Amino acid sequence: MKLLTVELKIFNSYKNQSEAAAALMVNVVLNKPDALCCLATGDTPKLAYRLFVERIKTEKIDVSNCAFVGLDEWLGVPPKNSGSCSYYLYEHVFNPLQLPFNQIFLFDALTENEASSCAKMDMFINLRGGIDVMITGIGMNGHIGFNEPGTDEYSHAHVMALHNTTKTIGQKYFATKTAIHKGITQGLATVMESKKLLMLANGKAKAQIVQKTLEEPVSVSLPSTFIKKHPGSYLFIDKEAAQNLL
Ligand code: F6R
Repeated sequence: MKLLTVELKIFNSYKNQSEAAAALMVNVVLNKPDALCCLATGDTPKLAYRLFVERIKTEKIDVSNCAFVGLDEWLGVPPKNSGSCSYYLYEHVFNPLQLPFNQIFLFDALTENEASSCAKMDMFINLRGGIDVMITGIGMNGHIGFNEPGTDEYSHAHVMALHNTTKTIGQKYFATKTAIHKGITQGLATVMESKKLLMLANGKAKAQIVQKTLEEPVSVSLPSTFIKKHPGSYLFIDKEAAQNLL
């Protein structure tokens, strides 16, 4: 189904959805061996990342010239905290692929200079010629990364105060109750400038936000709607997340 510029695919299962997401990622790195990939964390892409890693290893795909950046991070949460985005990406992608540090660039959650930390991320991306593929989930409030409702449409890397929904739901990633107030994130302009954007959602809890994303006008009050303005965007969802569309 073609909706504005979004290629929407509905899968029978989370497994099928994740296989397709992994295949899209594999194709990017096969077609561009020095691809820059930007990765979200969260529950949604876990299986896609596992399958991506498996395919890279079993098919002996050379990713030694690729680079990986994080989509976002909880400001103030150290990378050794198992709830941090950094910890997640090392656990699910970077360590299994045995990627060296020079292929990875993540937000510094402990920075004392937020502007400089954001500028370094933007510079890394620009020096690599932009992001070739960005993988995102959808927040229950329509956030992309930590571009919360009301985010600046023209933003690159920036710090944003987290909405209460994000603070509450975000606790699921942490072993113990953790103070999370702000996120450091790729901006909405960075999302829009990525050559391919793959947004993933699964499970019935995401059905309403998926419906709103597709049906509501493009607006920063629901950042996920920007996927409809992106010229190379894909929305892969399972049938539970699609239940309000059918
Ligand atoms: C995490 C991120 C967030 C999540 C979103 C969905 O790096 O960027 O925007 O993608 O909150 O999270 P899950 O997948 O846990 O439902």
